[in-house]
Amino acid sequence: MKSIRFVALGGVLALGLAACSGGGAGSGGAEGGTDAEPSDLTIGVAMPTETSERWIADGDAVKSQLEEAGYTVDLQYAADDIPTQAQQIDQMITKGADLLIVASIDGTALANQLQAAADQGIPVIAYDRLIRDTENVDFYVTFDNYNVGVQQATSLLVGLGILDAEGNEAGATGPFNIELFAGSLDDNNAHFFFQGAMDTLQPYIDNGTLVVKSGQTEIEQVATLRWLQETAQKRMEDLLTSTYAGGDKVDGVLSPYDGISRGIITALQNAGYGDSIEAGLPIVTGQDAEIASVKLINDGVQFSTIFKDTRKLAEQAVVSAQAFLDGEEPEANNTEDYDNGVKVVPSYLLESDIVYADNIQSLLIDSGYWTEEEVAAGQAD
Ligand code: BGC
Repeated sequence: MKSIRFVALGGVLALGLAACSGGGAGSGGAEGGTDAEPSDLTIGVAMPTETSERWIADGDAVKSQLEEAGYTVDLQYAADDIPTQAQQIDQMITKGADLLIVASIDGTALANQLQAAADQGIPVIAYDRLIRDTENVDFYVTFDNYNVGVQQATSLLVGLGILDAEGNEAGATGPFNIELFAGSLDDNNAHFFFQGAMDTLQPYIDNGTLVVKSGQTEIEQVATLRWLQETAQKRMEDLLTSTYAGGDKVDGVLSPYDGISRGIITALQNAGYGDSIEAGLPIVTGQDAEIASVKLINDGVQFSTIFKDTRKLAEQAVVSAQAFLDGEEPEANNTEDYDNGVKVVPSYLLESDIVYADNIQSLLIDSGYWTEEEVAAGQAD
């Protein structure tokens, strides 16, 4: 048992705490470990995929910040394959992880692994994506995902001239043809993003300013399994054939993620919409401030993205991990919104920003997230 090792390291005080903690589900089972040296503690970090830059940045930031705090880190990527991620987490537990930080692929697929973690008193922090249908998740660090959706929709309204950058009505009344895309249905975040976006767009759909020409407005109709660029490109191509072949034009596309945005833009460019917004491309939104998309925004091709500073999320994950390993509860700033189907998971939410061409400098370059050279090149150094 984990707690026994901690007791051995932690002396009499730890003995008392460990005896009380029992190491049960959701108890933050490392409570006896207050006196263990960080270097004796291993933190398993499970990330979904390396095909999207944001997760590489997250993995790097979490690993380096944990190592700076003295912990040993076991960082694994699962190539977006659910069984691979389950196996990686099993191995982390077998190898003696003291705490797990998990960005899940399918938020409902890890119940067995997390039961094993709970049985051994290993605290689990859900990273960015909520883990669902289990009581064995102790804390959740993420962004205000509903607000990300609001921001995506707001930027679409700004791009179409319906709102100004301050969010005031700017005069355009359309009607504008738009299409909607959502993320992967097995990712809890996809639902929050889409809900926030639709709550923002619905009044303009209701009053006729916006027209979803395909009629596809349900998340099940517009979702993109695994958030894949190619899947989004294919759906956009199909929409252009099915709905716009008669000469109607697409004016705007709600896209929940930069990879999806690039697939949409490629389909539109191939269909003759031009190479830039000025030349006829619709307003396309995004998320993550991936470098390839930041360049497209800088070049007037993609209209916007949402910047979620992964360095800050990593920092929050590290602070929360430290709290558990010190036998404390991490500080939550939201204890209402993230019901995982079994319980409301105490959460720490961070804020995000809308990126347009004119604030790339202040949001992304001045903060050191990307350099000017990277933005110009469209790739990370
Ligand atoms: C994350 C987004 C990301 C998406 C695709 C979501 O869970 O919150 O930032 O764009 O996954 O990787």
